[in-house]
Amino acid sequence: MKKGFIFDLDGVIVDTAKYHYLAWKKLANHLGFEFTKEQNELFKGVSRKRCLEILLEIGKREATQEEFDTWMVEKNVDYLEFIENMDESEILPDVPKILEFLKNNNIPIALGSASKNAQPILEKVNLLHYFDTIVDGNNVTKAKPDPEVFLLAAKQLGVDANDCVVFEDAVAGIQAANAAKMISIGIGDKNVLSEAQFNFKDFTEISTDFIKNL
Ligand code: BG6
Ligand code: MG
Repeated sequence: MKKGFIFDLDGVIVDTAKYHYLAWKKLANHLGFEFTKEQNELFKGVSRKRCLEILLEIGKREATQEEFDTWMVEKNVDYLEFIENMDESEILPDVPKILEFLKNNNIPIALGSASKNAQPILEKVNLLHYFDTIVDGNNVTKAKPDPEVFLLAAKQLGVDANDCVVFEDAVAGIQAANAAKMISIGIGDKNVLSEAQFNFKDFTEISTDFIKNL
């Protein structure tokens, strides 16, 4: 079995994309334009700053630095409100099964997320105790597809990068895992995540035997 397992958060452990969407849509509407669910697909795995840049391109809006900073804060305040009542019921199917299996086999587990809200979300859904280390948007300077987030996670686990496995739902995340020379496992649409080494719709399709044989 591989020696370290790294999980993305949004879209892999919990479906937070819907809350990110509501918060970005609220900002777009406030700025006077529409933002669709299809456009929200572009935001998966993408840093908050880059998301706002894309949003402003969609709305053909210019922003001063001050406005840009204010809107970043506004979006996050709204997002935090939307996720305030998240609990275990929002964990994606069979995620605890895999975490439990890894824990029982003493395999180190890391989080590798672009989000700056990762730790509070893991606390809300009561999964924080599974993770030996957390690397998130607060710890990295380069966003996915740069491999920094996963390389740092491997380092903090004390495991060689090529002994690590990454679960990701975003194209940029799969590219980051591949760039880090880790095994990349796409969670979601295999046509979208075609660069992944393995593809599954969700964790219900992943057996513990598959994990053992990696
Ligand atoms: C990623 C999400 O995990 O985190 C993106 O897929 C999000 O949609 C990014 O923009 C940053 O998240 P946050 O919580 O720091 O705004
Ligand atoms: Mg994700």
